[in-house]
Amino acid sequence: MKRGEAEIGYWIGKPYWGRGFIPEAVGALLSRCFDDLALDAVWCGYYEGNAKSKRVVEKCRFEYHHTNRDIATPLGDRRTEHFYVMTRANYTVLNVARER
Ligand SMILES: CC(C)(COP(=O)(O)OP(=O)(O)OC[C@H]1O[C@@H](n2cnc3c(N)ncnc32)[C@H](O)[C@@H]1OP(=O)(O)O)[C@@H](O)C(=O)NCCC(=O)NCCS
Repeated sequence: MKRGEAEIGYWIGKPYWGRGFIPEAVGALLSRCFDDLALDAVWCGYYEGNAKSKRVVEKCRFEYHHTNRDIATPLGDRRTEHFYVMTRANYTVLNVARER
C-alpha cells in the first residue's frame, strides 16, 4: 500500500454469520475511508478457499487486482492470497450508480 491507502480485514463470531453484518460494516468503513478521510484506495484480501470471505469482497464490489502465491501467513503456514481494491474513482462511480 502507498500513502493515502488502507486495508480492511474482517472477522465475526460464528453465530452471526450469514446475516450480512460484515458487508454492511465494510460499506460503512468504505464511506469513512473515502468520504471522511479522502483516501485514494482501500485494499481487501482473502486466502484461497475462504468462499465466505470471497463473497464479502464481491458483494462490496471490490475489483480483483492480483494474487500472491505460497506466502507465509501469521498462522505459520503458507497460502495463496487474492487481493482486491476499491479505488476512490470506482467508489464514486458505484455511489452514483446506487443513487439512480
Ligand atoms: C467471512 C465472514 C467475515 C463473512 O461475514 P458475514 O457477516 O457472515 O457475511 P455475509 O452474511 O455476507 O455472508 C457471506 C457469505 O458467506 C456464506 N455464508 C453465510 N453464512 C454461512 C454459514 N452459516 N455457513 C456457510 N456459509 C455461510 C454465504 O455464501 C454468504 O454469501 P451469500 O450472502 O451470497 O449467500 C465471516 O464468515 C467470518 O468472520 N469468518 C471467519 C473469519 C474469516 O474468515 N475472515 C476473513 C479473513 S480474509
